[in-house]
Amino acid sequence: MGKTNLSMEQLVSYAKRRGFVFQSSEIYGGIAGFYDFGPYGAELADNIKSSWWRHFVYNNFNVVGLNSSIIQNSKLWQASGHVDTFVDPMVDCRSCKHRFRADHVAEIDTNNLTKLNEALADKSCPNCGEKNSLTEARNFQMMFKTFVGPVEDDAATTYLRPETAGGIFAQYDNVRETTRKKLPFGIAQIGKAFRNEITPGDFIFRVREFTQMELEIFTKPEEADKWFEFWKDYCLEWVKGLGISQDNLRWHEHSEEERAHYAAASTDIQYKFPFGFKELYGVANRTDHDLKSHMKVSGKDLNYFDEETGKNIVPYVIEPSVGVERLFMAVMLDAYHEEEVDGEKRIVMKFHPDLAPVKVAVLPLSKKTELSDVAKDVFKSIAGEYNVEYDETQSIGKRYRRQDEIGTPYCVTVDFESLEDQAVTVRDRDSMKQERVKMGELKSYLEGKLK
Ligand code: GLY
Repeated sequence: MGKTNLSMEQLVSYAKRRGFVFQSSEIYGGIAGFYDFGPYGAELADNIKSSWWRHFVYNNFNVVGLNSSIIQNSKLWQASGHVDTFVDPMVDCRSCKHRFRADHVAEIDTNNLTKLNEALADKSCPNCGEKNSLTEARNFQMMFKTFVGPVEDDAATTYLRPETAGGIFAQYDNVRETTRKKLPFGIAQIGKAFRNEITPGDFIFRVREFTQMELEIFTKPEEADKWFEFWKDYCLEWVKGLGISQDNLRWHEHSEEERAHYAAASTDIQYKFPFGFKELYGVANRTDHDLKSHMKVSGKDLNYFDEETGKNIVPYVIEPSVGVERLFMAVMLDAYHEEEVDGEKRIVMKFHPDLAPVKVAVLPLSKKTELSDVAKDVFKSIAGEYNVEYDETQSIGKRYRRQDEIGTPYCVTVDFESLEDQAVTVRDRDSMKQERVKMGELKSYLEGKLK
């Protein structure tokens, strides 16, 4: 026992049973492609986001943050190319009426309709098995359409953003001007994005509503390759720093067919999910595609005046982009361990303390008032800075196991001796070693450990 690989089924059931991820609107039968984070999942996702923000924004003097709106003027998505090209080819089965992504049925990695239709010619419906029942592949717009204001006509039509990057490009000049940044500099954003995936699936891997953490690095065109390499390494180091094993990570260079419409080059950090190595973190060279298109469509001058050469240039953009949900899955899968302790199996989530949803659990040995009163004071003495849980139900062994299963790095037990010696027992999740610590020193002791 030790590191145990979970199947998708086991992960989904574990995530629900332990309060990490629930199906959205579960009481109504759910809704495909949407999930809710439960109490521990919400903490884990927030910890991933705050680690990203610290590493990508706070650690870099030339990166600043932005929080743009989800709904923008629809011209933004015309300029970015998403209205015309952010589409997935799909096929329908005339017999069972199922709809599929054409590239999945054709088993080729392309969005090219001619190539897809050639490859689809001899395919049967993957659902009902019917021969000659598939329609030709046709494009399906992946942005969610909505209307702004009371009139539902073309003029009022807009979209939920398919990527947070769009808001960054539209505010590029305001941010540059107000922060007086010189190239190279970056704008970072964390926020929701929406894609009407034809076939959402693999739990929270391919969802219709998700959270992106995106960084757009604006650089001189001739330095784009250099910064592409720099940010690739930076992203990998951060992912490894979250405690994800190097063995489960690899690089995947995109072929021309795989690249998004705006990218001249892109590379993924892939993670070994139960369904194979798949994209975790994408790094793309978007060239001057976005700024040039926005200049053209908006009529605004987004040139950058290069003081060294005295010339106007349109910066290139390097974009590391990652979804919180995929990282969340990778972190859960990597943290899951089964161990044998005194002949019994224990499940333990070995989260990096930075990511652990609960940092410390305070557990009075019994529910007796004299103990729980002291334990509540212990809770108050350390609470406020990070997530601390108080639990006085069930036997202490069961409570330790419960905390191991949600990955709590430290359990603090208040026992009858505590009333005499003003000390508590601190148990380490991984070594299971126990140490006696004076209540007055507990806060600084834990701060030292959690750093
Ligand atoms: N901005 C990159 C992506 O949305 O995939």
